This record gives sequence, structure tokens and C-alpha cells, in this order.
Amino acid sequence: MVKNYPPVSEEYLKAVDKCKRRLRGLIAEKNCAPIMLRLAWHSAGTYEKCSRTGGPFGTIRFEEELAHAANAGLNIAVNLLAPIKTEFPILSYADFYQLAGVVAVEVTGGPDIPFHPGRPDNPKSPVEGRLPAATGDADHLRQVFGNQMGLSDQDIVALSGGHTLGRCHPERSGFDGPWTANPLRFDNSYFTELLNGETEGLLQLPSDQTLLQDEHFRPLVEKYAKDEDVFFADYAEAHLKLSELGFADA
Ligand code: HEM
Repeated sequence: MVKNYPPVSEEYLKAVDKCKRRLRGLIAEKNCAPIMLRLAWHSAGTYEKCSRTGGPFGTIRFEEELAHAANAGLNIAVNLLAPIKTEFPILSYADFYQLAGVVAVEVTGGPDIPFHPGRPDNPKSPVEGRLPAATGDADHLRQVFGNQMGLSDQDIVALSGGHTLGRCHPERSGFDGPWTANPLRFDNSYFTELLNGETEGLLQLPSDQTLLQDEHFRPLVEKYAKDEDVFFADYAEAHLKLSELGFADA
């Protein structure tokens, strides 16, 4: 999709740069890259292309949206970020949360993801129920990522690789455990572990295992397991699209 990014001031660009440094510091200090990536993704992944509602427009900070079942625990991320946000009143929450997602991937060793500022803050949260279910099959993933958000099969598999970071928490999702042996490093081990099958101490959600069962998804899993550079390139492209859903559409 061709994008028509809004112009932002020199002062705004400077704030983005400085804020990026602050975010690197916070993430290094608190080891909180995984929850920052999840925050950015849950903020953007509510986008519905037909109604042009939801998406990465800062609404995830509202009590109403944080109370959605899929967002359990994300109040922690919003609270960790709050002191940095007060330092940069010029930035929209929308830009700020997406910047945190980009920095989380960068500082854990993942690809650089281009960042374009200028997202406005929306006053209203989307309805509950737009994010994918962990028990979802391939049809469900295509319904949510494809029909609702407008992303491709390749985007679905590449973005699922975000589970290279972090873990499930029983009190948040009901699931327990990390996907990879090193949940603070962004690499392609999500895909190698997926192909390895069950490993003691690691977890795979039904929605992860679905990627092995579908004839279009599986070859991509195999490709990313074999070649980390290809994964990084496709991930960066998919993350960029996700972070700009409904933003700067020409
Ligand atoms: C494909 C559909 C997806 C489903 C069903 C799903 C589901 C889940 C669930 C159940 C958790 C555990 C939450 C908890 O207990 O703390 C989780 C965590 C996480 N998800 Fe996803 N997810 C999906 C896609 C994605 C995408 C696209 C990304 C990013 C690109 C992502 C990034 C993460 C991260 C980083 C965590 C770890 C958070 C932490 O350690 O605090 N997920 N996901």
C-alpha cells in the first residue's frame, strides 16, 4: 500500500530520537522487551479495515481496552512506560507505543524496523474481540489477520515469530512458559523449536501449531527456520505494516 506520511516538525523528530534512547534504557534495565512488543502488537492488531476502526492509535492505554481479556497484564507495560511518556508530551501515545515495539525488537537483536511518526491519538477504544485466540486454527488466523486487518499469509507466519520473545503467564492467559530457550533474544528459534516438536520447559500454543498444519503456512516456517536473514527481512516488512495499519493510507 502506498503511504502518505504526514509531515512532523523538527522538534517532534528530535523527541522521537531522544525517546528511542530512553526506551532502550528502560528495556535494558527492566528486561521488558517482550511485554513492550506485545503492547505494540495488541495496540495495532485491533485494526478493522472495513470500518477503519481500531489500530495503533494509542487507545490501549484506556482502562476500557486494558480490561479486554486478551490484554491481561498489559497494564504493566503501560505503567512502565508512563514516566517516559511524561518526558515527551509532544509525542502521541500512538507513536510512542509503536516506537516501544520497534525498540524492543531492535535491542534484543532483531531486525531494524523503519519508523514513521505522525499517528494521531484516537479518543475511542475498539470493541472487544478483535485479537486472535490462542486456540484458533488457520481459518481463524486468516479471518483476523487477513480479512480484518488486511495482512497476508506471509505476514501471519513472520509475525508469529514475535513469540521468539517472552512467555505465557498463567495469571494472564492461562498458558505457562516460553516458546524458546532464550526469551530475551530475538532470533529464528521460534521456528526451529516449532519444527522440533515438544521440548520440556517450552510451550507451543494451538495457534502456533496451526502454522505446521497448513499447507501454505508450513513452507514459510521451514524457510524461516533455515534462514534467519529471510525471517528478519520478512518480519521487518510485516511489523512495519502492522505498526501502520490505518495510518497514512494514501
Ligand atoms: C498469531 C496469533 C497470536 C496469538 C493467538 C497470540 C497469543 C499470545 C498469548 C496467549 C500470549 C501469552 C500472554 C501472557 O500470558 O502473558 C502471548 C504473548 C506474547 N505475544 Fe502473542 N499471539 C499472537 C501473535 C503475536 C504477534 C503477531 C506478536 C508480535 C509480533 C506477538 C508477540 C507476543 C509476545 C512478545 C509475547 C510475550 C509477552 C510477555 O512475555 O510478557 N504475538 N501471545
